[in-house]
Amino acid sequence: MSRETISQSISFVHPIHLSHGNNAEVWDTSGKRYIDFVGGIGVLNLGHCHPAVVEAIREQATRLTHYAFNAAPHTPYIELMGRLTAFIPVGYPISGMLTNSGAEAAENALKIVRGATGRTAVIAFDGGFHGRTLATLNLNGKVAPYKQKVGVLPGPVYHLPYPSADNGVTCVEALKAMDRLFSVEIDINDVACFIIEPVQGEGGFLALNIEFAQAAGLLR
Ligand SMILES: Cc1ncc(COP(=O)(O)O)c(C=O)c1O
Repeated sequence: MSRETISQSISFVHPIHLSHGNNAEVWDTSGKRYIDFVGGIGVLNLGHCHPAVVEAIREQATRLTHYAFNAAPHTPYIELMGRLTAFIPVGYPISGMLTNSGAEAAENALKIVRGATGRTAVIAFDGGFHGRTLATLNLNGKVAPYKQKVGVLPGPVYHLPYPSADNGVTCVEALKAMDRLFSVEIDINDVACFIIEPVQGEGGFLALNIEFAQAAGLLR
């Protein structure tokens, strides 16, 4: 595969060049078939080219291909937000907006908590991953490769151990680290929010310790 026109900042995990996919399989340009364990990194829950998805895309493409929602609202956005907000089981009315990426969603969450609380400090977790933009880099609980050579990052951000049965960090250890953080590093009254993954991916596919989530008030 020729990659002269692709930035060196992108590294490839698999040295293959894909041509097409179907359900849980993909084919490279030489026609070799692979079972796809990547699934767009866990986002292709319906597999590749599901007929219903293909038909929905085709149907929408014949109606309206793009419109900036802030310029004029349109039906698909309104319908999707209705279904998403109904699906999120919080028991009170919620609203939201669609973003281009996970990093953009996390950046907007930071802006919202800053505006709502008047505070700036964020508590994040070792091994966490929240994106590749400047603010989200600082939330990531990993230096290499994300935070190297990029200089000062937006903050303040503090990291705590991520407690999980999968990494051996207990609830007690994580709560102890939190006590230390709030007595040594930062006044709890300056904390705008916690940001935490219920299941870490980049951190090693770890499920969050439920007792910690409850004790820290992250789960009701
Ligand atoms: C928990 C979490 N937040 C944010 C991101 C960043 O998403 P994106 O690459 O769409 O910016 C990811 C990506 O894997 C993620 O797993």
